[in-house]
Amino acid sequence: MTVSARLQLAVAAILTGCSTIDGTACLTVAEEESCPSEQDASDALVGTTTCTTPVQKVLSTRGLVSDDLVIFDPDGDTHPVDDTGTTGEVQRQCCYRATMKELKNSGCTIGRPLMDDGRMVTAEPTGEDWTTDDRPSLRKLSDEDRAALADAWQEQGLLEHASVAAFARLVLDLLELGATAELVDRASIALQDEIRHAARCFALASAYAGREIGPGPLPMPARRGRRTLTRLAVESWREGCVGETLSVALAAAQLRGATDPVVRDVITGILRDESEHAQLAWDIVAWAQAQGGERVKRAVRREARRTVATAPPPRATNPTLMAHGIPSDAVVREALARVATGVIAPSTDELC
Ligand SMILES: [Fe+2]
Ligand SMILES: [Fe+2]
Repeated sequence: MTVSARLQLAVAAILTGCSTIDGTACLTVAEEESCPSEQDASDALVGTTTCTTPVQKVLSTRGLVSDDLVIFDPDGDTHPVDDTGTTGEVQRQCCYRATMKELKNSGCTIGRPLMDDGRMVTAEPTGEDWTTDDRPSLRKLSDEDRAALADAWQEQGLLEHASVAAFARLVLDLLELGATAELVDRASIALQDEIRHAARCFALASAYAGREIGPGPLPMPARRGRRTLTRLAVESWREGCVGETLSVALAAAQLRGATDPVVRDVITGILRDESEHAQLAWDIVAWAQAQGGERVKRAVRREARRTVATAPPPRATNPTLMAHGIPSDAVVREALARVATGVIAPSTDELC
């Protein structure tokens, strides 16, 4: 299944409010044993937790979906048995279709961030002239509601604005590494998308605040040394495959509660574009792996094991704010978990 198809399924589930997550749960048995029956697998797996991020509890299992001999190397990586040069213990990995539930509150960085030495960079909201004619209804909003909405949309606008620079850097990286015209073109379209996202978010923030809000100067991180395929792949996996894929989940969570037509139109546009950006990130990692081979794959695998979740910003439970695009905490957590399990984990397995 492609990343886009997995994302579409996840978005549909977020919008309809389905509260459990479909995925796979795996058991390993000795090489010479056969996979347990459905009933035995269910007895062994139901109630256990999986080691994905966020942590999932297995509620039920169904049929066997894969039965493979794999090598567990000394680092704990799994390899297909025909992976030449890999040594380790051979075991049989039996994976079953499973329904799971997220166990604890965890999220991840959202969107393609602009990073400087591991720190996320954004401008201060001191500027103007970043706006559109998007004007939400202000009817029935208290001063307090309007202030909360202005803050939330300003925060999103600043992140979208920083993403413009993140894509500008990506375009340069792709050129430096000899990427295809198609990838460079898609990255430059994404850059333009982020300008539009930022302007539309600032337009909403300005309408709620009753004064113009826009980004000031963006503190630009120094250009780093020579780019390598490995760095491109690892950063694209972390910032794009994870960050932008989770952005799709967040946008779907926002859309689920939003009723204001202008807000819905802004979020719908962001959701559509972020799905493209997520697919681009997966395609860039695949391209870098095809160019760089096993060395690049290993680096992505290592990064996939290391990536640690951070808590998402607190969200409102106030229905008035939800109508204007601030989703509830529970919906955000569920959406992030669904995409982490249903899209990022299986797509990463396929890449590696
Ligand atoms: Fe965006
Ligand atoms: Fe994006």
